[in-house]
Amino acid sequence: MARQFTNIAFTEGVKNAQTRYGSREIYQKFLERQGVSKDLLTDKEIEFIAARDSFYMGTVNSNNYPYIQFRGGATGFLKVLDETTLGFVDFVGNLQYLSVGNLLENDRVFLFLMDYAHRRRLKIWGRAKVIDDNPQLLEQLSDPDYQAEKARVILIQVEAFDWNCPQHIPIRYSEAEVAQIKAPLEERIRELEQKLAQFSPSN
Ligand SMILES: Cc1cc2nc3c(=O)[nH]c(=O)nc-3n(C[C@H](O)[C@H](O)[C@H](O)COP(=O)(O)O)c2cc1C
Repeated sequence: MARQFTNIAFTEGVKNAQTRYGSREIYQKFLERQGVSKDLLTDKEIEFIAARDSFYMGTVNSNNYPYIQFRGGATGFLKVLDETTLGFVDFVGNLQYLSVGNLLENDRVFLFLMDYAHRRRLKIWGRAKVIDDNPQLLEQLSDPDYQAEKARVILIQVEAFDWNCPQHIPIRYSEAEVAQIKAPLEERIRELEQKLAQFSPSN
């Protein structure tokens, strides 16, 4: 047995592809090195999840097609309840209920969390539960200052996770991150404008 992510992600098809393209041996050694372990969220993952203001959620429909939807909210809106449980509030959207509908038929879920600024990404596999009738939990998982119509809670039992390397991630900054970067520059501009004003003809 190996890390749970490989049990889920390394299907026969994936292993065959690794054999075909020459990486099977490398990954077999990787599996042996990793040893037996449950994929429990550690401080590293918990901190990363808490800093996200968005993620992509993959589900599977009954036609066997994958589906992805983007989820956004206040920073940290995807909450870690314990080392294997995540939860977030599902906001009212366009009423197509594609993700929720898929989950009601197949609870398998995949979360893809991006940190474009630091070029990091985390993949999470799990099982999701759609909870319509727990106002207390809805309140607990809500961010009071974030403007959204709250519909329901989605709880995710984490089965596995894995980090990806930073390759080919374009660096992008959120509005809040840009504001942070701009702050010292704006301060410097203010200082220089004040200095410049001393030399203007009206002085
Ligand atoms: C009025 C309204 C219209 C929307 N229209 C779209 C749309 O056309 N396409 C889309 O991907 N999301 C749209 N959204 C956002 C989605 O409804 C939202 O992300 C929701 O979570 C979709 O979930 P689903 O894709 O699982 O059905 C809209 C949201 C609102 C409130």
